[in-house]
Amino acid sequence: MKHILPLLFVTLLVSCQTKTSENESKKTPPVPLATDFIEELWYKNALVYSVDVEVFKDSNNDGVGDFKGLTQSLDYLKTLGVDAIWLAPFQPTPNKDDGYDVADFYGIDQRLGTNQDFDELIKQASQRSIRVMMDLVTNHTSDQHPWFKQARQQKNSPYRSWYVWSKERPKKWDTGMVFPGVQKAVWTYDKQAGEYYYHRFYDFQPDLNMQNPAVQREMRKIVKYWLDKGIAGFRVDAVPFLIEVANPDFDPDKPEHQFDIITQLHQYIQWHKRDAILLGEANVDPKEQEPFFGKDGENMQTMFNFFANQHLFYALASGETKLLRKALHDTKDIPPTAQWAHFLRNHDEIDLGRLSDEERDKVYKRFGPDSTMQLYDRGIRRRLAPMLGDRRLVELAYSMLFSLPGMPVIRYGEEIGMGDDLKLEERLSVRTPMQWSSATNGGFSNAPKTVRPVISQGPYGYTSINVAAQRADSASLLNKVTQLARLRKQCPEIGWGNWELVDTGSQHVLAIRYDWQGRSLLMVHNFSPEPQQCQISTQLKAQTQLVNLLDNSQRQVGKDGAYTTQLPGYGYTWYRLQK
Ligand code: NOJ
Repeated sequence: MKHILPLLFVTLLVSCQTKTSENESKKTPPVPLATDFIEELWYKNALVYSVDVEVFKDSNNDGVGDFKGLTQSLDYLKTLGVDAIWLAPFQPTPNKDDGYDVADFYGIDQRLGTNQDFDELIKQASQRSIRVMMDLVTNHTSDQHPWFKQARQQKNSPYRSWYVWSKERPKKWDTGMVFPGVQKAVWTYDKQAGEYYYHRFYDFQPDLNMQNPAVQREMRKIVKYWLDKGIAGFRVDAVPFLIEVANPDFDPDKPEHQFDIITQLHQYIQWHKRDAILLGEANVDPKEQEPFFGKDGENMQTMFNFFANQHLFYALASGETKLLRKALHDTKDIPPTAQWAHFLRNHDEIDLGRLSDEERDKVYKRFGPDSTMQLYDRGIRRRLAPMLGDRRLVELAYSMLFSLPGMPVIRYGEEIGMGDDLKLEERLSVRTPMQWSSATNGGFSNAPKTVRPVISQGPYGYTSINVAAQRADSASLLNKVTQLARLRKQCPEIGWGNWELVDTGSQHVLAIRYDWQGRSLLMVHNFSPEPQQCQISTQLKAQTQLVNLLDNSQRQVGKDGAYTTQLPGYGYTWYRLQK
């Protein structure tokens, strides 16, 4: 009960505010913002930065990024406007899946630093009001984890039932692989165990048996351990697989889900830290999204909007906004305390699996025409800037990211338009070291050999693309992204308000209007390379001023509450509506 009360309070608060705002926009002047007493919902309007310690900044020049290096870079992140960082897995690992194969949930990979270094990061981040989140990868362990080692060696070990076994090879042994083309099976025979074990991902990542209460208890213990160390939330890896009921007879293509695992985790976390959050990685169809948030927000507070993401890439590739509008509409209905996390790129491939073959082909053709750019029969393994090519399109994408209804998440290096290295395997192409300056190894490290090659050749090489150069150039992408991030902070309507898509009269132009506490915004984006004439109905009375937040120009709405405008190719504007 203890945890439900604050939630109910906040739920009521949010819905009351929304209702008042509609009336107030007609009558009274805007009421002052009152974000202080809804601090627990910080994720409604936060900017999250995703960072992999291993490739961010090397402080001791051994070639591997480390916690000290990240701590030294916090002022850079603060200047960018970052509210929270999300750390990719940093625990001890054989590192066969870039840390997503954890060998000790309570430790720190010694290549990245010590416990003290971690504590110092938390302290320094907190002094700058930056929250630190981490990946929670408990769907599986590494096959080198002591639990699995014991489980496969001794049938009587208590850890045996921590994993999912089958005496016979299950009928569906080669169905439902997450990495098709690379992964051959989801059930693999283990000689030591004399049985098959289940693994949704690579064969060195045996799935934990979440049906086992002891495993659930252990997951809570892990979460408590890191909350106590100052972690502010968890990016929960592979949620649909974490909660699937796996057994030798089940069909991996049609799994049953056990949502109460998430509900209990949410409750448990709130008992220990009321503003800590779960940010779910769940690429689900909108028809299935409700239980992931929970009907009343009792499950994930926030989830990546993969559905909108792939339709955004379709809109960027095709210039047409119809499907993106539909995707936003289809994912609109979420509990008042919940929030979407929007992103452009992450550390994986862009997953286009929910587009039709024809739509996906259109995106491939424009952004990943070479087969080396494509991955797992569903996605593109490139960074944003080289993929989009045109600087105007990159800016449009960022403006969209910051004006979509949700919490923006930026992947390290995207703010300077870093490139990809297609010579690296699978998703490693988008995981090259951060480019800080034109010094050796892009200022990432002075070591003769780095953990992964720094991009040094071509237009995206570190001598051309780096933080130092862009800091000094007022027209740089870094400065543009920083400007948009700052502006986003002045627009709390986006995180808190009601939103609706506004008719523009052009299939290439997408307009979103936000309303909150008597304040309104209108964000307009042209996905076509050609200028577009559009007629936007603001549904406001004449005399309303449209204040362009990007250049401070003003214009007035026509008598019918509509206005006509011409947007340049890939142009965008953010308006505040004022009476
Ligand atoms: C999803 C992560 O994003 C991906 O990078 C990883 O390989 C799998 N989960 C397995 O943990």
